[in-house]
Amino acid sequence: MTNFENYLTQLSESDWQEAIKSLLTSIHEVDRNAVQIWFRFYPLALEQFLAASENLDEAKQSIAMQGDFGLEDKIDTSHDFLYGHRYWTAVKAALEAESQVFQGGTPNLADEITQIATMVAGKLKVDRSLVIGITAVGFMTAAQVGLEKLKASSGKIEKPSGIMSKKPDAIVASRKHDDSQGLFGFLKTVNKKYSVIYDEPNDGRFEIVDDQEIASASANDRSQNWQAKDERCWEGPVPVECTSASCGTCWVGVIAGEVKLSEVARRERRAIKVFGYNQTDDNQPIIRLACQTKARGNVTIVIPPWNAVFGKKVYGNIDELELEPVTTSAKALREAVRTAAAAGESTE
Ligand code: FES
Repeated sequence: MTNFENYLTQLSESDWQEAIKSLLTSIHEVDRNAVQIWFRFYPLALEQFLAASENLDEAKQSIAMQGDFGLEDKIDTSHDFLYGHRYWTAVKAALEAESQVFQGGTPNLADEITQIATMVAGKLKVDRSLVIGITAVGFMTAAQVGLEKLKASSGKIEKPSGIMSKKPDAIVASRKHDDSQGLFGFLKTVNKKYSVIYDEPNDGRFEIVDDQEIASASANDRSQNWQAKDERCWEGPVPVECTSASCGTCWVGVIAGEVKLSEVARRERRAIKVFGYNQTDDNQPIIRLACQTKARGNVTIVIPPWNAVFGKKVYGNIDELELEPVTTSAKALREAVRTAAAAGESTE
């Protein structure tokens, strides 16, 4: 193991969180929420819990994990919702170079990230505030997958498309904009309609009525077979199951527009701690349950590729909270469908 890897393995989840917190003001607004969301989508403590298990499938089952957690197969793609994604090839190369010369010791993590970001920004002749976030992501990716796997990845990225091909300030401005309500829209008091953008580079969006929950708006989008893309998606692009804050399936990251969302109610706050998603204490935080969150304007979200209930199991130090009675009729139905399919029976 290199000195650099040694250094990374000594860092705890709270070291990472502190570093990101201290870097936030240095990160351009275009990526400020996105970076914090990425670190919640790939928490070190959860990765370590799974890596330490003797039987990975059993460990995943014990936290009701669904979808696809982990960075090994997403080294070059997990961060594609960051503006800084376009700098990944250079960041990855800089990290590999740093691993060769790192002297050892325990330098401040935020300072280390800033130093590499400054180097990359200078080389690419771009503002450092656009590179710090993706550099932090690179450090954590190296910590979770190891340098060997980081080096083995191609580092290739897709050319930015859609809104992501614009300049950072233009993206920020565009995200703040609400859909037009028509010529006399200013007279409208009911039935205002907005957009939830869930896949920015591909302009993935669905309509939402003023004050509607994100999950129920998503369910109205029948434009394609969502389950063919992600088996957690029974209806619409946002994965759902209970629709009552009991399963944790519908969590999303809010890249922009969090202030246009309803405030967190006690039920969501309590449940999300049990799920382990590390929501902030804000009234309108950037990690939400889509089935509990109503929108009053355009919002931009990102959907995590997995969900689980790991708050107690992995962190262990959260308040002893119990979920309210679980409403898992959709889960029961899904299991019945699977069992029947396996047995070659009809579920009608
Ligand atoms: S769908 Fe179960 S918590 Fe939202």
